[in-house]
Amino acid sequence: MSGVKLLRAEAYRAIDKEIAKYPVNRKSSAVMAALAIAQNELGWVSEPVVEDIAEYLEMRAIAVWEVATFYGMYNLDKPGRFKLAICTNLPCALQGANRTADQLKAALGINFNETTSDGSVTLKEAECMGACGDAPVVIINDREMRGKVSVEDVDGLVEELKAR
Ligand code: FES
Repeated sequence: MSGVKLLRAEAYRAIDKEIAKYPVNRKSSAVMAALAIAQNELGWVSEPVVEDIAEYLEMRAIAVWEVATFYGMYNLDKPGRFKLAICTNLPCALQGANRTADQLKAALGINFNETTSDGSVTLKEAECMGACGDAPVVIINDREMRGKVSVEDVDGLVEELKAR
C-alpha cells in the first residue's frame, strides 16, 4: 500500500459515491466509474493511476488493467487537447465512416492512435456508440457526439476544433 493519492479529494469523494452503490464487500464493482472519474480529472489513465485505483478499491492492479484495456473509452496514453473518435462498426461503415475516417486522417496528417504534432488532436477508431441511426458518428472528448459526419464535414470539423 503506497498511500500516494494521485487525484483530488473531490475525485475520491466521487469514487466513494460509486462504491456506495454496491454491497460493502463489492468495492471493485466501482472500477469502471473510478477509471472514468480519474480520466476526467487527469485526461488519461496512467500506470500509477491504475495502481492508485487498485489500492483504493482493494483490487489487484492487473484486474484494473483488464478493465482499462478492454474498453476503448479509457485513454491509456495522454491524448491531445481533443480526442476525436470515429465509429467504424458496420452501420457506420455502411454510411461511409471509413471514407470520413480517411478524410480525417488526411486533414489532420495522422493515423488512428496518433496525435497531431501541435498536440491538439488525437484520432481514435471507436466501437459502436449506440447511435447508429446517426451514422457515421464521431465523438469529441468522450462527451460531445456528432452524427452523420460525412467527408464534406471533415474540414469544417477540423477548423472548428482549431478555433476552440
Ligand atoms: S455502428 Fe456506429 S454508432 Fe453504432
